[in-house]
Amino acid sequence: MWHHFTERARRAVYYAQEFASRNSLSLVTVEGLCLGLLSVDGSRCLAALQRMDIPLEDLRAEIEAASISEPENRPERPTLTASAKRAVELGVREAKRSGRREVGTEHLLLGVVVEGGSASRILAKWGANLEAMRNAISEVYLLAEDDGGAEEESSILQRCVGSDELGLRRTSLLSMADLNGDQIIGILDCADELRIRRSAGGPLDWNGRKSLVMIFEKPSLRTRVTFELGMKELGGNTIILGPAEIGLGVRESVADVARNLDRWVSAIMARVRSHETLVELHQHSSVPIINALSDCEHPCQTLADLQALRQRKGRLAGLALAWIGDGNNVLHSLMLGAAQVGIRLRYACPPGYGPDVSILERARALAADTEAEIEAMDPLEAAEGADAIYTDVWASMGQEDEREERRRAFSEYQVNARMMDRAAPDAVFMHCLPAHRGDEVTDEVLDGANSIVLEQAENRLHAQKAVLALTLGP
Ligand code: CP
Ligand code: NVA
Repeated sequence: MWHHFTERARRAVYYAQEFASRNSLSLVTVEGLCLGLLSVDGSRCLAALQRMDIPLEDLRAEIEAASISEPENRPERPTLTASAKRAVELGVREAKRSGRREVGTEHLLLGVVVEGGSASRILAKWGANLEAMRNAISEVYLLAEDDGGAEEESSILQRCVGSDELGLRRTSLLSMADLNGDQIIGILDCADELRIRRSAGGPLDWNGRKSLVMIFEKPSLRTRVTFELGMKELGGNTIILGPAEIGLGVRESVADVARNLDRWVSAIMARVRSHETLVELHQHSSVPIINALSDCEHPCQTLADLQALRQRKGRLAGLALAWIGDGNNVLHSLMLGAAQVGIRLRYACPPGYGPDVSILERARALAADTEAEIEAMDPLEAAEGADAIYTDVWASMGQEDEREERRRAFSEYQVNARMMDRAAPDAVFMHCLPAHRGDEVTDEVLDGANSIVLEQAENRLHAQKAVLALTLGP
């Protein structure tokens, strides 16, 4: 269980045991655990309490007074009481609830609050009830971004890359279903670290030892810039092959292209017309293949989207996300991702433009293991009370000829102010971009205060860097 605890969270438990030993107690109580948490410098737990203006010394003194009981025979190693164990388990649950893989001091403190007892009562007296604590912790996460992560724990990315504990080394990313929930959250945690500490330079430097070839059968702005920049920031090389350059499957078969690239580069990123091309590249090459958009999926987009959503909402599990529009590649990946992190996805697509049935079934099967739900609805019904509304172009790349016909079919599916009004008051608007302004979304919504489209775009850089680092190794 301790494997997923941050170094500071482990230190807090150790301090709690030390405290028990010093006082000849054989058991670590919830109050002892709380004292341990209050003793770890630079933790998010202390930062959150400070944000609530709680005088830490007074709080510590009060909890210490409540935790000293009759000395017993000095034990070798004090163990946790059943209640303290429950507080730790509740802390683990709080970490999961907030969509984090690592259990930090802030989660353990929430565990102490939820478990109840004297520590919880003392904290509540100082105003640190569950809701206030959760809010203060969300603020601490946001502040960490402003100070470049100065208060952050040790590098999650370095640890995950070094140990390959997520099991991603040398794996391909063709579909969001290639990842499990733990891997998705792990990628998001690494991506957050890369975002927060970007100005401090990368935790990795490949020094030219890794290279990525980027095949584009379709145009791109975000994917092209973020993959190239991401590789450069990690110290790797990129080679870009545009649509006219290699004649994939025309001048040379996909299999032969894959066999050749395999001899030169560390990974292949491809944006392709047909998903089958990715499958073929994967079959004929031993290096990882990364799907940078196919007719079927866009997993890199989903990772950036989940990162943006968690950044804004402080959690993923339990959020209601409405998809309004085409049942396309972006929805497919989003569905498979949402299903694994516990998001309630309601999708509204015009008749005949719904998602692929086999992907829908796969997403529902994955959702059975989480609290996720994947449901079809009418547009306004889907938007009702949603935490986020997501849309994409009505005609994807390659469907330009259908644009007028689709405009007619999708006329009730525009995300405008009226639709946003149906959503929760703090609902965010999402779009993978590029957008067709005036079609699927109005300027007012796209440029509005609740639009997080540029966070999504920015996160393409961080999420893909995390994928590259975890896949290609140190
Ligand atoms: N969202 C996205 O993939 O953008 P590009 O098509 O510009 O790469
Ligand atoms: N569905 C769109 C996404 C673009 C990033 C397309 O395939 O064109």
